[in-house]
Amino acid sequence: MRKIDIFDTTLRDGEQSAGINLNTAEKIEIARQLERFGATIIESGFPAASPGDFDAVQRIAGTVKNSIVTGLARSVESDISRAWEALKGGEQPHVHIFIATSPIHMEHKLMKTPEQVMETAIASVKYAKKFFPLVQWSAEDASRSDPEFLVRIIRKVIEAGATTINLPDTVGYATPAEYGAMFKYVTDNVIGIENVKLSAHCHNDLGMATANTLAAIENGATQVEGTINGIGERAGNVALEEIAVALHIRKQIYEIETGIQLKEIKRTSQLVSQLTGSLIQPNKAVVGKNAFAHESGIHQDGMLKNPLTYEIITPELIGDASTQLVLGKHSGRHAFKDRAIKMGFELSDEKLNQAFVEFKKLADSKKEIVEDDLFVLLTDQQINDKEVPVYELESVQVHYGTANIPTATASAYKPDGELIRDSATGAGSVEAIFNSLERLVAGKVHILDYRVTSIGKGRDALGEAVINMTYNGETVTGRDVAQDVLEATAKAYLNAVNRQLVKAGQKISVAAG
Ligand code: KIV
Ligand code: ZN
Repeated sequence: MRKIDIFDTTLRDGEQSAGINLNTAEKIEIARQLERFGATIIESGFPAASPGDFDAVQRIAGTVKNSIVTGLARSVESDISRAWEALKGGEQPHVHIFIATSPIHMEHKLMKTPEQVMETAIASVKYAKKFFPLVQWSAEDASRSDPEFLVRIIRKVIEAGATTINLPDTVGYATPAEYGAMFKYVTDNVIGIENVKLSAHCHNDLGMATANTLAAIENGATQVEGTINGIGERAGNVALEEIAVALHIRKQIYEIETGIQLKEIKRTSQLVSQLTGSLIQPNKAVVGKNAFAHESGIHQDGMLKNPLTYEIITPELIGDASTQLVLGKHSGRHAFKDRAIKMGFELSDEKLNQAFVEFKKLADSKKEIVEDDLFVLLTDQQINDKEVPVYELESVQVHYGTANIPTATASAYKPDGELIRDSATGAGSVEAIFNSLERLVAGKVHILDYRVTSIGKGRDALGEAVINMTYNGETVTGRDVAQDVLEATAKAYLNAVNRQLVKAGQKISVAAG
């Protein structure tokens, strides 16, 4: 079995998706889960992009011990120096530098000749090598680049000290045959390629990211890059869980080891979906809600006779215990703590006590607490950073009847601790809530998207609301969970506002309540 490295870019390319905005506590939580998942390398952000990105990269580099932590840098000294400041505390400092190599990018975006791009690439790698033992160099838009130019520039950057060469299909344009052929060409023609790692990075614009990544592996790639749930720019990046499971299920064909802990897939996917507010399509391969559902009579009959008739992947393989009954109304603190530890949570006594209070509230209204419910509840406690000042919902009340004008009254603690209340009408309950909250928060809100979904199954399942909005002109996504979808909606609205306030670095004092 050949071993390939898994490079996760959920926190960099994934976070670049429209409407995704993670705070530092959430990024750290995802990074810790990616470490458990078994990612060889975690790309934790783009340190030069903003002080927030820098802080998150620095804190992740100081936290993660079993995966290499990297950060992105353009081919300029200031980006690389900033990356070094953020990453130098990591176990094995690694930087990811990129420059475009396709004619269209070089001429129209960079406005440089191929020779100038070559000089910049060599200089940036040499500069990075003064600090970093591990330097990954990416030829952005490699799949639309001239293969001979690629061979020349790759050879030069290897001579300059690059330890990994990455060949992205930046716009998701390549077919599997083309992408595989590029890897073969580079492997056959670049002197010294056997001394570095060769990496694939695929986008999914034509729905071919998984096939392209597998084609690269068949043609010499020793590292693959992607994100959890396939989140990323436009149609996203390749979904790492698909690659890991495909290589496992078809190991006779590929003969590849990844080091990925398949049992951590479900949890990693769930965490990323929960914290990014990016819902997973039900029919998504491996992690979609319906990925293991057999609906038709013929299939169900076959499954009863022998599961191998229709099931190639089992929920157990990816650690899916989502509907497993775990605790009930009478479960005590000890059983709760025990379960939290079994699920891999490491909460302080204070957070555990708070989570237990929330659990008891939930158990009063929900008969059966399944693993999915606990996961949401414990994750919320884990990332709940009381230092972050926020608007906090005190209550929401909706008056709705088919013959009445829907009216909502909401009250919330302002950032300075004052309790404010206002009412508004709307065409429906949700609009009435939005309108009443808009009166409470200082600023202009424009709703772009709004979705509610259930966590787990059953009529008393928790409701999750995700709201994508512009607040004071900036796009932001908020999410929250409650037993009632209208309460979840109000909380998700304020969550989006709070995120934008924190992001904008506004000085607001700690909320009361
Ligand atoms: O898709 C791409 O080309 C990238 C590079 C920055 C590696 O994400
Ligand atoms: Zn990319």
